[in-house]
Amino acid sequence: MSILLLFAVILLAGGARAGYCPSASSLYPCICSEYSTGAYIWCDVSLLPGDGSQVFDIIAGIPRPTTIYEFRISYFGFEQIPGRAFAGLTIKRVYLTYGEKLTTIHADAFAGIGGLRSLLLQDTALSAIPCRIFPTIPGLEYLEITYSSLETLDDGCFMDASNLAVLVLSHNAIVYISPQALRGLKKLKTLELSNNVIEHIVPGTFKDIKLTRLQLNNNHLYTVSAGTYAGLKRLVTIHLQNNRISSVAVGAFEGAAVASTVDISYNNLVTIAAGTFRGLSRVRELFINFNEVSFIEPGAFYGLPRINYIGLWNNERLTSIDNDVFNVTELISTDGVSVNLNGCKLDCQCDIDWLNEAPFTTWNAYCATPPELSTMALKSLKCVNGVMVPI
Ligand SMILES: *[C@@H]1O[C@H](CO)[C@@H](O)[C@H](O)[C@H]1NC(C)=O
Repeated sequence: MSILLLFAVILLAGGARAGYCPSASSLYPCICSEYSTGAYIWCDVSLLPGDGSQVFDIIAGIPRPTTIYEFRISYFGFEQIPGRAFAGLTIKRVYLTYGEKLTTIHADAFAGIGGLRSLLLQDTALSAIPCRIFPTIPGLEYLEITYSSLETLDDGCFMDASNLAVLVLSHNAIVYISPQALRGLKKLKTLELSNNVIEHIVPGTFKDIKLTRLQLNNNHLYTVSAGTYAGLKRLVTIHLQNNRISSVAVGAFEGAAVASTVDISYNNLVTIAAGTFRGLSRVRELFINFNEVSFIEPGAFYGLPRINYIGLWNNERLTSIDNDVFNVTELISTDGVSVNLNGCKLDCQCDIDWLNEAPFTTWNAYCATPPELSTMALKSLKCVNGVMVPI
């Protein structure tokens, strides 16, 4: 009982120690609330006249030292973040959102901030990553620049960002990643590049990075070259959906040894070449939905011993699949392999009856031809004397 009381007293004392916020009158239009680990300050700069750059005078007026958990500035019209704008403050996260004219971040814009871990720049006009800020914020772990105008990732940009664990660059106009651009990112685990216009990844680009997450979906990739996933031995999912991929080279995924899912849906694949998925010995799910696949080469699904599900939805020209696309002796998935053929227009001849036999099952597989079997489920048919007939 007395121990509980003691705890209560300590908790109360701890609570009372809060009081990170500076006086409210000096902060307008910013508002401040207390967090357990610092002040949360949010400035809606649209309430200030002009471009709102007076907010930097307000920041300059905040007493030093002040511990701030998150400093958020939104709806601003200024074009640059001046040097040492936050110097002397301790701030864990700086979030700058809705600044559609922001083009320039000075090299020392964030210099002098204690403890900065996260920096988010959203809805800006930045066309390049402000590489020169990194030496001044060596503890940065999270960087997000999204809904902006980034175009390229240049060599050596991140050489001084060695503590970065998460880099989010989605919703930009990135067309190219220089093969040496990601060097120095020794601790990077998450790289988000979705919703850009990347056309090609040079093999080796990711080779020295220990990524567990890499998003390349919603880009303009037209091919995946051999060696693209080399070195990504911790990657969990291969996200390539919503690109323009019409070919995947043999060996493209080699190196992604623990990946469990490959998503290459919504692309332009016409054929799936033999050996495409070689090296993916942990993959359980393969999504190839909404492509233009009309032919799957023998050996196409070799090297996928744990495969459990293949989605081939809406490949309207896929009428048949040969049984030697798989190497049956290597399959070790205990619950078999299900193949989803929803929207495919199957030609229900005896040569696809194997899809009804263990370890294979189909989902939503319907015949388009021959005419007498049209619209019938493949599951309801069986090959008898060389012709498919209803069971
Ligand atoms: C099929 O898989 C078995 C077992 O892993 C392997 O020994 C054999 O070489 C494979 N066959 C082909 C043609 O790859």
